[in-house]
Amino acid sequence: MLGNFTFYNPVKLHFGKDALNFLHGELLQYGPRVLLCYGGGSIKRNGIYDKVMQVLRDAGKTVVEDPGVMPNPTIGKLREGARLARENDVDLILAVGGGSVIDYAKGVSASAWCEEDPWQKYYLRQEEPSCRTIPVGSVLTMVGTGSEMNGGSVITNPETHQKIGKVFQPGMMPRFSILNPEFTFSLPKWQMAAGMFDIMSHLLEQYLSGTDDNTSDYIGEGLMRSLVHASRIASANPLDYEARSNIMWTATMALNTMTKMGKSQDWMVHMIGQSIGAFTNATHGMTLSAVSGAYYRHILPYGVEKFARFARNVWEIRPEGKTQEELALQGIEALESWMDEIGVVRHISEIGVTEEMIGDIAANAIITTGGYKTLSTDDIVKILHDSL
Ligand code: NZQ
Ligand code: ZN
Repeated sequence: MLGNFTFYNPVKLHFGKDALNFLHGELLQYGPRVLLCYGGGSIKRNGIYDKVMQVLRDAGKTVVEDPGVMPNPTIGKLREGARLARENDVDLILAVGGGSVIDYAKGVSASAWCEEDPWQKYYLRQEEPSCRTIPVGSVLTMVGTGSEMNGGSVITNPETHQKIGKVFQPGMMPRFSILNPEFTFSLPKWQMAAGMFDIMSHLLEQYLSGTDDNTSDYIGEGLMRSLVHASRIASANPLDYEARSNIMWTATMALNTMTKMGKSQDWMVHMIGQSIGAFTNATHGMTLSAVSGAYYRHILPYGVEKFARFARNVWEIRPEGKTQEELALQGIEALESWMDEIGVVRHISEIGVTEEMIGDIAANAIITTGGYKTLSTDDIVKILHDSL
């Protein structure tokens, strides 16, 4: 049975090869001053910067540039961006990049006119803005997080080794997002693979929980099947537009809140992955792939039926002659061999975690309660050891 829910997602998406043509019309709806946020320079090398600047000029905008948003954006950078947005009294924040830049833009939007410290208010206390906020729009260049169509904003505090996500209310989601799959063609293979696993992980976090029969899980299964199919084509030929466009749309649908409606969710892989990220600054998708095998084997006994359904419906493993447990385990094994196919890491030692760090990473991992087993810190220590 589906539980009660309210579904509201106000993001306007423009998708396809011509999506950037819609930016001009979107820009006309806001005042003249635009804060242009971007990362470490990929958009200058692949030409997206020049294209976006041309549209901004044609629309008569005054552009304040805010470059250098790093992967896994820090609270220090966010405070600087908030100052810049306020000093220039910008009317729109345009994020051109991946999840890091878009997450950052939402944080800047909520913080520019806020007198309180954003780390305390949004990330530690998980409050909503009580001040004026600035509209955000995005041009997506990296696929995976779903930030283009959600309220998520994940920020790292390197001093305290904490990486915390705040999911803002729908009013803080981007007003519009421009999704041109060709803009992702220049991604290095490592990032593309990490993004593909991030999508799978988002779907699994929402799917591997609960025992109800609900439509959300069937939507999740369909998205996983499409992802696996397209990922194989894209891994062999990264410039295959059809596959890359399907992956882009799957990523957006995987975390625009639709597949979690009316059901419980887990998110423990993300909590452990984020804690690893806070200590290593490793690529987000790789922090998830590195622990997923050990985590799912650990919780399998508590959710055998759903894991068996995952094996049948996502990986098409035939159930005849197998116990539920055997089938369930084969589903995890299929997931792991797909991870090897797309080229993501399967061990935390590959992303800088040493045995000595495990205690601190486990202690700083936030524990969620929606999955098949509520973990203790000792469980997390064991999972991390098994992932080394
Ligand atoms: O900085 P530049 O030079 O632009 O390079 C970036 C960056 O190094 C590069 N890149 C992006 N687009 C490119 C490109 N390189 C070549 N061609 C392109 N078209 O890719 C690198 C990674 O970019 P980043 O934005 O960090 O990746 P991603 O989209 O995976 O975002 C990761 C962040 O999002 C958070 C993660 O925790 C992490 O901080 N998440 C946000 C979520 C949300 N909003 O709901 C949920 C996720 O689970 C996740 O936690
Ligand atoms: Zn993720």
